Amino acid sequence: MRTHYCGELNKDNINQTVEICGWVNRRRDHGSVIFLDMRDKRGIAQVVINPDNADFSLAETIRNEFVLKITGTVIARGEGLTNPKLSTGEIEIKAQNIEILNTSKPIPFQIDATDTSEEVRLRYRYLDLRGDAMQNRLRLRSQVTRYMREFMDEHDFLDIETPFLTKATPEGARDYLVPSRAHPGEFFTLPQSPQLFKQLLMMSGFERYYQIVKCFRDEDLRADRQPEFTQFDVETSFMSENEIMTMMEKMTRGLFKSVINVDLDDNFPTITYVDAMEKYGLDHPDMRISMQIVSMDKLMQDVDFKVFSGPANDDDSRVAALKVPGGASISRKNIDKYTKYVSIYGAKGLAYIKLNEDGPTSPILKFLSDEMTAKVIEMTGAKTGDIIFFGADKTKIVNEALGNLREQLAKDLDLFDKQWAPIWMVDFPMFGAGDDGSLNAIHHPFTAPSVDTKILEQTATTALSRAYDLVINGSEVGGGSIRIHQVKMQKMVLKLLGISDQEAQDKFGFLLDALEYGCPPHGGMAFGLDRLVMIMTGANSIRDVIAFPKTQTAACLLTNAPGSVPRKLLRELSIQVSLAEKD
Ligand code: AMO
Ligand code: AMP
Repeated sequence: MRTHYCGELNKDNINQTVEICGWVNRRRDHGSVIFLDMRDKRGIAQVVINPDNADFSLAETIRNEFVLKITGTVIARGEGLTNPKLSTGEIEIKAQNIEILNTSKPIPFQIDATDTSEEVRLRYRYLDLRGDAMQNRLRLRSQVTRYMREFMDEHDFLDIETPFLTKATPEGARDYLVPSRAHPGEFFTLPQSPQLFKQLLMMSGFERYYQIVKCFRDEDLRADRQPEFTQFDVETSFMSENEIMTMMEKMTRGLFKSVINVDLDDNFPTITYVDAMEKYGLDHPDMRISMQIVSMDKLMQDVDFKVFSGPANDDDSRVAALKVPGGASISRKNIDKYTKYVSIYGAKGLAYIKLNEDGPTSPILKFLSDEMTAKVIEMTGAKTGDIIFFGADKTKIVNEALGNLREQLAKDLDLFDKQWAPIWMVDFPMFGAGDDGSLNAIHHPFTAPSVDTKILEQTATTALSRAYDLVINGSEVGGGSIRIHQVKMQKMVLKLLGISDQEAQDKFGFLLDALEYGCPPHGGMAFGLDRLVMIMTGANSIRDVIAFPKTQTAACLLTNAPGSVPRKLLRELSIQVSLAEKD
């Protein structure tokens, strides 16, 4: 239908007759002359319609977002009328013929307006997606997956699909269920990841698999979580964790260079879990920030301030300090704001010492001797103009409070030392412990521990796993591990997780069987594709890199899914819905 894209026209096309198709981005009626900004996927070009044009009265009926085909001649814009902001700003198209391919109702918001509420954007997603911001992000997303596919192809990986209608694949979230008509009362489970199938593919002799695949998790949503999201999923046989990490690092570095022209570090630094928790409070620390948390337990053991001495003398608790360069200028009001912020993580307060020109000031100075204060200043390396914040509580609370405070302060005070900070997180514990003492898998139950079966049984709460996470700028963009490839170890791990032999057989019998028929050592990893694209585009929300995302309440505003279904359908599925409590 067209000879050229709007966005591609330039001085070289002057005097050519062209046919363009697209949407009316904006129509300006100057009475004697009508201007149309015509938009297609490559950009915008200006069309002029003079009163002597046979289609002039037709042009008067045209409104924004009408779909047109225009035939015209490319001409140079007059002196002083060029638009340097537009790639096509030196030319315009003098219309000869206008064909209205379709009309549009008045649009509920201006395409590319920045103040449209997300609710409206999501309801009219097809209009929102017409704007530059979403077009560019989805284009970049496509470049990312293309690079990944090419890299995997070059490295001899096969793209193999795995089922969506399947059994539970535990990754720590709730499952989405699909009722089976053929098996009344029974349900399929949508996969939280292809974990078990990719392992089975290694047992099937493929050695190198990848897939760009949807995963489904019914969990509480955040800015970087969606109920259905995409993984770039990888599994290999006969490769050590170092070999896998090196290859995935190479992929990541090439990806950033090729798609956004960013040179990531030559060797991503490796940080152990224990180190990260101690110094940064989080297992996905943002290493663009150099501020570190400093433990004060020893120093505060005998202090005459219960808030500090209590936790300092308790094994499960911690007293720690965070020095903020230039933070002495933080106002009282903002300190209150940060105190409220850390309370989200359970912190009961946020003690601080300010280092002003005339010395330290603080509501807690009266509890600390001068030597003690001097020691705190020395240990944190604080200087005049800085502030030192303190956390004192259960270790988990202090870590989360100071870890998140560190990142929030860096945003507020612009304390980033570099633009990109990729790291590998390693040496995770194998298990976490619930309040009742029961164990849960930190990665997933198929991750290999770094010790043998016997030692694992004796040291379950302290044993480490062979898992690794890739963290970029404080976001966990990927994670993986070496897997268990021996049935004895797999049974032990399931037992330690409190899963009985019977339950293990019911849930994972197929895996336990397969492990006994010559399973190779194997391991892999999965990247959260949406998160990766979010970081690469600088988007604030995961929804801004997904064409048709769900809201924070896991609903689709465009289609109104989820919705109720006719009774007949439920009867066929042998399902009865009881909403008595709600009614
Ligand atoms: P994991 O559960 O760590 O590992 O998931 C891998 C990566 O997927 C992304 N991710 C999400 N992204 C958006 N919304 C979500 N709800 C969501 N949940 C996870 C994260 C995360 O790092 N099978 C293992 C991988 C393996 O061991 O190979 C797995 O799924 O970026
Ligand atoms: P209080 O004696 O309770 O008034 O507390 C004195 C100072 O210690 C205040 O600045 C509180 O914000 C702070 N504070 C109280 N509890 C904690 C805690 N668990 N961790 C860190 N600071 C605290």
